[in-house]
Amino acid sequence: MIIMVCGKGGCGKSTITSLLAKEYARRGRQVLVIDGDESNFGLHRQLGCELPRDFTEYCGGRRGVMSTPKGADARDELFGRRWKIGDIPADYVTEHEGVRLVAIGKIHEAGEGCACAMGVLEKNFLPNLLLEEKDVVLIDAEAGVEHFGRGVDNFADVILMVADPSYESVRLADKIYSMGNSINKPVYFIINKADAEQESVMRESFPHPEQILTALPADKEILRKGLLGEPLDTQLPQISQIADAI
Ligand SMILES: Nc1ncnc2c1ncn2[C@@H]1O[C@H](COP(=O)(O)OP(=O)(O)O)[C@@H](O)[C@H]1O
Ligand SMILES: [Mg+2]
Repeated sequence: MIIMVCGKGGCGKSTITSLLAKEYARRGRQVLVIDGDESNFGLHRQLGCELPRDFTEYCGGRRGVMSTPKGADARDELFGRRWKIGDIPADYVTEHEGVRLVAIGKIHEAGEGCACAMGVLEKNFLPNLLLEEKDVVLIDAEAGVEHFGRGVDNFADVILMVADPSYESVRLADKIYSMGNSINKPVYFIINKADAEQESVMRESFPHPEQILTALPADKEILRKGLLGEPLDTQLPQISQIADAI
């Protein structure tokens, strides 16, 4: 199962991805987290993993990825085979407590170019992943909807949108629901960092409130660990609710 975690910047994508990944690992699932955010560097800390080497480098760097001919054969040229989670070369994976992490690629320096290669790589890697029935892959997307534009969501089984209490999140929920619908993917929402009053306003404003799986309040411990870059080991009933629902 491939779960795409998306939403606006700062809504809590990486936090929810980490908590959910750890929950699935506790349930004995083989878990792979794909860091698809080229800009931010917090996810590996939340997972308690080292930052892995950019997977883009495995494919000859951005130039290598982008020089692959476009089209149906591009997949085979890039990888030439199908990958089980355990096949990913050790140099490009880090692991902590049963959760493996791969980072598609980060922007490290000013002027190094756009992130198109990362999208191309994700799009070519995901369909070649050979998953066992109980494997869980969580993609921590970059903010916004570019992953839809890139076609990455076509390879997800479920789209989870994290929504913080903001007008932007409410509007984005509408857009993501339509985009998910247009490619026949189920879209679920998680309200994050909202108090009871904000939650109820959000439930009233959401285009499809029946798709809201749960709501997490702003939690002091999560915020503190986020600030210090410490691993998130908090267990919350809402997270196991999400895992059950999916
Ligand atoms: N439920 C929560 N309670 C308190 N702080 C949270 C919660 N969810 C996320 N945060 C904090 O909000 C900030 C953004 O979260 P993050 O997961 O990095 O967002 P994103 O990946 O969407 O950019 C971080 O400082 C994080 O610790
Ligand atoms: Mg993030």
